[in-house]
Amino acid sequence: MHPIRIKLSKYLSKISTIHGLNYVSDEKSSKCSKFIWISAIILSFLGCFFYFLKAYEKVFVSPDISIKISYEPLNEFPFPAISICPRTKFPFEPVNFKKNLQKLKENKTLSEDEELKLEMGLQVCQSNPDHFANLTLNISRPDFLDHLSKNHYNIPDMTPRHCFDYCNSEGSTFLTRTLTFHGFCATFNQLDFNDIFTDQIHDDFKVYSHGIKSNWNLSYGYFDSNHEYPSKMSDGFSKSLNAILLQDITNMNKDCSIYRRGFEIYWHLPNEILTHWHSSVNINNVNKDNQIYIKTKSFQMSPKLQKYDVKHRKCFFDHEKNLKFFKIYSEKNCLLECLANITIAKCGCVRYFMPRDMTTSVCTAKDLVCSWTEMVNYYENIELNPCGCYHSCNYIEYELFSITETDVEDDMILGQFFTMDDLKNEEDRDKFTVIAIKTTKGKIEERTSYSAYQMQQFISDFGGLLSLAMGCSILSIVELIYNAFNIKNEPEDDEDEAGDDENKENIQRY
Ligand SMILES: *[C@@H]1O[C@H](CO)[C@@H](O)[C@H](O)[C@H]1NC(C)=O
Ligand SMILES: *[C@@H]1O[C@H](CO)[C@@H](O)[C@H](O)[C@H]1NC(C)=O
Ligand SMILES: *[C@@H]1O[C@H](CO)[C@@H](O)[C@H](O)[C@H]1NC(C)=O
Ligand SMILES: *[C@@H]1O[C@H](CO)[C@@H](O)[C@H](O)[C@H]1NC(C)=O
Ligand SMILES: *[C@@H]1O[C@H](CO)[C@@H](O)[C@H](O)[C@H]1NC(C)=O
Repeated sequence: MHPIRIKLSKYLSKISTIHGLNYVSDEKSSKCSKFIWISAIILSFLGCFFYFLKAYEKVFVSPDISIKISYEPLNEFPFPAISICPRTKFPFEPVNFKKNLQKLKENKTLSEDEELKLEMGLQVCQSNPDHFANLTLNISRPDFLDHLSKNHYNIPDMTPRHCFDYCNSEGSTFLTRTLTFHGFCATFNQLDFNDIFTDQIHDDFKVYSHGIKSNWNLSYGYFDSNHEYPSKMSDGFSKSLNAILLQDITNMNKDCSIYRRGFEIYWHLPNEILTHWHSSVNINNVNKDNQIYIKTKSFQMSPKLQKYDVKHRKCFFDHEKNLKFFKIYSEKNCLLECLANITIAKCGCVRYFMPRDMTTSVCTAKDLVCSWTEMVNYYENIELNPCGCYHSCNYIEYELFSITETDVEDDMILGQFFTMDDLKNEEDRDKFTVIAIKTTKGKIEERTSYSAYQMQQFISDFGGLLSLAMGCSILSIVELIYNAFNIKNEPEDDEDEAGDDENKENIQRY
């Protein structure tokens, strides 16, 4: 026999703990039983190997995420930022959008003033691009934004009274005029310009300034207890944003939008600017009191999951993704910035509400067809996620819980916090709407994602399988190694005293 085979068969016969091996080495076993044993060993081995690959992937590559639910007190979370947008953008006169569009269709030349009005209308009215797709819109008024700002409804002016937190402190209440896809809106509880935007942003976005410094960020929460901005929610008396909104339904520009009256109320994170991806409710009717309840959910991810690749966990931890224009990352800020990048690449300009730097120009009417097409494409194929915008790993989601509309019954009381005296002008008394936006009481559901399958489970599962399939344990592995050394360091058996390397007698005895 070849010396290596001799050694191997000696070795195999010594290790009886891995079942089956000794039958393979036993010269007395028949070929058939050897074959069965060898197949069994190979199958067990392959089974273990594939199981190992699967378990390895779960531990090191793509985690199996489990969710743990806990309940957190309300006063650790910010009240949502609330944006109030008018559905019609202009009072009847200043911007007669359809009349000028019609003139253009009839090949009539527009005066400079008419062009400007058409430009403003085309930019903010939620019109269908088909309406102007076949026109040569050779209009370009880059100064339309200044004019828009003057002619557009101004929500703070349409809100004679508003207050927050049981209306104890009028001082903590303010509505900042904001520039959004919906035209000019007004936003409550949003971070200041300096806390939202990086210094790359165009000066047009300075409308977001209100000068109150924030002591909150999305991943950390509140970090300075002396001062509280954005305002928090509260556990005890639930805080609410209350406002009287005025809408003169007899003097609204019907051309601008298919929705003529009312307001669209959006809620979002204080570090986000309003985007198309935020949810909203409509407030249409006058002389009504609207109670809107918003529910908060918190999502967290265990820092242990940071070692996995972003494409498996589908979220970003702090500093894993930075945006060009926003200081705090959020999925919706990212989607908006991404849309701006795509619009620049395809049309050479961005829409007036998209973040831009000082050198990028705003799309004017002649670029509208291009930018509309890109926008519609982007919204329809948002799941392609061209910029890789995922959620933050720690984020908060606000959703509508309920909305009720009731008549304002008592002439003296408008909702809970206002009286008729708050409407100083007699003519305002038939055009007001009251809104109260509250958060639901009780604790906030927090979902923490973690990987339940960790190293310990991996070892015990794999060990269990190894011993189940191959009868192999740590001790038998030690024995395997020990015997391997013993064979190498022959002679050690009594019979090997002669030191003869090829002692046939030895073999025969086994
Ligand atoms: C306007 O002019 C274009 C060509 O310049 C022409 O094709 C079109 O028929 C004209 N439209 C009307 C309504 O006259
Ligand atoms: C624009 O032109 C296309 C074909 O060139 C036509 O199908 C479409 O109906 C036209 N749209 C309008 C609003 O006239
Ligand atoms: C668009 O207007 C500019 C000046 O206002 C003019 O030079 C240009 O020829 C016009 N283009 C078309 C296609 O009418
Ligand atoms: C959030 O605030 C904490 C405390 O000031 C800070 O350590 C952390 O870097 C901030 N995170 C971000 C993303 O700015
Ligand atoms: C948009 O483009 C800028 C500059 O090209 C880049 O820094 C930024 O990361 C891009 N934003 C997104 C969301 O991809």
